[in-house]
Amino acid sequence: MRDLIFPPGFLWGAATAAHQVEGDNANSDWWDWERRPGTPCREPSGAACDHYRRFADDVALLAALGFNTYRFSVEWARIEPAEGTFDGAQLDHYRRVVEAVSAQGLIPMVTLNHFTLPRWVAARGGWRDPLTPTRFERYCRRAVTALGEEVAWYCTVNEPGVVAFGGYLGALGFPPGSRDVASWKRAIGGLVEAHRRASSTIRELRPGARVGATHALQEWEANAGGRPVVEYLRRLNEDVFLAACADDDFIGVQTYTRVRVDAPEVVAPLLRRALATPRMEALLVPWVVRFETSRAAGVAARGRARATQMGYEFRPEAVAATIRRVAALFPGKAIVVTEHGVATDDDTERVEFIVRGLSAIHALIEGGVPIRGYIHWSLLDNFEWARGYAMRFGLVAVDRRTQQRTVRPSARILGEVARAGRLQVPTPEPHAPSGGRGPRDRAGGKVLANLRKL
Ligand code: FCB
Repeated sequence: MRDLIFPPGFLWGAATAAHQVEGDNANSDWWDWERRPGTPCREPSGAACDHYRRFADDVALLAALGFNTYRFSVEWARIEPAEGTFDGAQLDHYRRVVEAVSAQGLIPMVTLNHFTLPRWVAARGGWRDPLTPTRFERYCRRAVTALGEEVAWYCTVNEPGVVAFGGYLGALGFPPGSRDVASWKRAIGGLVEAHRRASSTIRELRPGARVGATHALQEWEANAGGRPVVEYLRRLNEDVFLAACADDDFIGVQTYTRVRVDAPEVVAPLLRRALATPRMEALLVPWVVRFETSRAAGVAARGRARATQMGYEFRPEAVAATIRRVAALFPGKAIVVTEHGVATDDDTERVEFIVRGLSAIHALIEGGVPIRGYIHWSLLDNFEWARGYAMRFGLVAVDRRTQQRTVRPSARILGEVARAGRLQVPTPEPHAPSGGRGPRDRAGGKVLANLRKL
């Protein structure tokens, strides 16, 4: 056996998001969406994990397990339930959450927007409305002021690419369910602007805090025919947001799997040309999305590889591929794995996912990549958006009837790794692939330079 030793001060955490765990988030767009006939939601979020009332016990449990960080989100729909009306009791509530987290010796990492919007913002067009970034900035100012000085890490917007692609291009069954390229691009613009405004507001109010966004990044693979699609999706789902984060203090990396796109080679030049022609793009993209999402969900399940409950390929090392790319785009910038996890009913799989993921991450740290933390998704089994409660991502199981928490072995194992700052793994066979290092993406600088022109 050998010890993989992680740097001092490494953040070891678990994450949640307000709507997925708190319960009764009744002023939000998702609350309505879950009830609207015709949406793909499997079930409503309801009382979720009742974390709104049980947060103190939940964070005490996290601390007792050995972790040092809790990433959670504060809920805009609670804090500003009607335009311009800020609810002081809700601001106090989140202040108490921060206090409870700090009192347990945990570092609070706060996400200001994790997918949900207040109903009134959604009614005005959500992220498509040019005024939404200004409204978001105003909310951030109130929230950050109320949360106090202890919050050292802020994530502005969670996975803006998923919000835009999943909701405004209709790819993941998220609200508002529009399906056109124009809505999608407007939402992308709104989310980029929201991040810019929120981060400068946080810097002004809390100059000592570290500010970033958390990005859904895929390990993409394609054959020659699929490459134009991958380049297109990566540009609009990932790179446009990364480019807007060049001045951030850290990049939050969230990678769950590898996505492969194959197409006959003969179509590649046609696809490339069509995707660069606005009229063709508008016709083609919704079709590409429908094809890709239905196919992606079944890829692993159809036997190409081992599948998770989400239908994703079981690929814990995908996170190393995306970190390598981020490190090449932003040499020297701090990277935090702000989510990494697996939906499974077999906790030994979760342990394997963690150990393989951490081993790949450690190899990158040894190679000099400034990775500052590993935050597992999720602390609790919770409401997995349109997929409902059947997806089990928790280190801690939650009985939905009694709300009883049961600590899984994976929680104890990761907690012990966190406490010790080291992971024991079998010594690799001589000449075995390291699984971590690889050629750097030398095109990184060019990618960013081009994106800034967008
Ligand atoms: C991420 C989301 C998080 C959770 C995990 C499984 O995309 O940020 O809320 O749903 O996926």
